[in-house]
Amino acid sequence: MKTLLLSVLLVAAFIVFSGNTIKPADDGLEKVKYPPVSTFRSTCSRCHGPQGTFFGDSFGELPDKELERFVGLMMRGPGGLNPTQSDIAAMTAYNRALAKKRPFIFITKVDTVSNGVNYSGESMPGTIISLSSVGESLQIKTGTNGKWQSGPVAQSVHTEFIAVQKGDTVKLIPGKVWWTN
Ligand code: HEC
Repeated sequence: MKTLLLSVLLVAAFIVFSGNTIKPADDGLEKVKYPPVSTFRSTCSRCHGPQGTFFGDSFGELPDKELERFVGLMMRGPGGLNPTQSDIAAMTAYNRALAKKRPFIFITKVDTVSNGVNYSGESMPGTIISLSSVGESLQIKTGTNGKWQSGPVAQSVHTEFIAVQKGDTVKLIPGKVWWTN
């Protein structure tokens, strides 16, 4: 009986205290074991070119379902990977961005540091990402390897990442989703 009561209290405490914090494991972040930009680079670009430049014309016209089916087949087949649904969803989103020539932002990691949180992620090489949070705003440059790091920022529900490329804007609010679509 005591153990039961204790478990109920623990669960209740967990629900109360986890309300405003980022819970990567619950929100799909840690379910993605193949970050799409670097994975594309290491396992897909030998056939499809850096950032998909060798894809044929039909690539841009594939309906979403078809694109997702292809991505799943490719990750398992020539890619030799063992993807989960989240891995396929993230890679599909990246492939869609490549096909539509849209910017793309993916958050790989959120580290708690003494003065806030530090985001790490991936985007097309060279992409400038604007991060705004409570009273701060900063610009992050994506490296030639497609990776970026924010540096410490206050953790807030108002944190927002924006990338603009040829006038096309994508926006990402971390915690709700971890990549742009
Ligand atoms: C060994 C070469 C090879 C590798 C590696 C490879 N692909 Fe492919 N991929 C192909 C070929 C060939 C086709 C065309 C197949 C067809 O049309 O039936 C294709 C088709 C596709 C398509 C459909 C779009 C189109 O233009 O036909 C997508 C999307 C795709 N690949 C994504 C990926 C992703 C993502 C990866 C990495 C996980 C990957 N591919 C790895 C060879 C490769």
